[in-house]
Amino acid sequence: MREKKQFFFEKKNQKLLLLRVACVSPGWTRCRTHAQKFFASFFQKRRLFFLVRHFGAVYRYQMQDSDSTALSAVLRADTAPLHRQTEHLLGLPGSIGSPAAYGALLCRFLGLYEPLERGWHLHGEWERFGIELAARTHAAHLRDDLAALGVAAEDVPRADIRPPASFAQALGGMYVLEGATLGGHVIARDLRARLGAPIAGATRFFDGRGQALGPMWHTFRATLDRFGETMPQDRALVLSGARDTFRAMLAWFAPCRADPVAVP
Ligand code: HEM
Repeated sequence: MREKKQFFFEKKNQKLLLLRVACVSPGWTRCRTHAQKFFASFFQKRRLFFLVRHFGAVYRYQMQDSDSTALSAVLRADTAPLHRQTEHLLGLPGSIGSPAAYGALLCRFLGLYEPLERGWHLHGEWERFGIELAARTHAAHLRDDLAALGVAAEDVPRADIRPPASFAQALGGMYVLEGATLGGHVIARDLRARLGAPIAGATRFFDGRGQALGPMWHTFRATLDRFGETMPQDRALVLSGARDTFRAMLAWFAPCRADPVAVP
């Protein structure tokens, strides 16, 4: 009986010894490393899964909550690539090398701005939202500048623009033309310095607002934000109006790019 016990005891010890040897042997170490890697990657995948789920939920929440973002900020972010494209296409002020080219550019602006602004007049809600339409239109300044250059505005070709179907879309269009005034004084300063006397009295379109530029922009942005808060269902229309206006501008100025000095 004692021998039997001794026998089992030795067998158990041998097994333990074998196990210990196996544990430190390179084969088992490799095996253990694989197991560790497997579990590590499993937990990493789980963590990744939870991260994706977490941020997905946050993103979905933000998308649902985008109505609380100021409309002016949404417009700015949404149309930034179109703004970059427009800036690049026009290449202002460097693309204007002579008073004749300047006159041609103003003609092109008038051909676009006049039909755009005519479309705004089809909607009667401006006053209700505190916008004085006459102070926010630019075609009259363009006509004055062209008259100062001795260019007849009547002969200028006009773009064939579909008028905005709603006030909200018109407001989006106004956002684009209001924003375009912001770089105007930089352009006017450069043109006056390079082209001099011949364009001296003809830069109302670019910097006619003078000191009022900043305050007018801030007032307009505040109006946009108020509109976004009170008419959340129309926010998408404002965005589409802004995009359409940028696209109309890109299409209208595209033919001028090859020869910026050509008179239209
Ligand atoms: C006719 C073409 C252009 C259009 C339609 C246009 C449109 C806009 C718009 C919509 C904004 C407002 C962005 C915002 O929501 O803050 C803006 C801002 C601005 N644009 Fe243009 N832009 C035009 C050309 C230019 C050019 C050629 C310049 C450069 C000389 C320029 C310089 C600026 C500047 C400095 C701002 C202010 C950016 C800021 O406050 O962060 N833009 N423009």
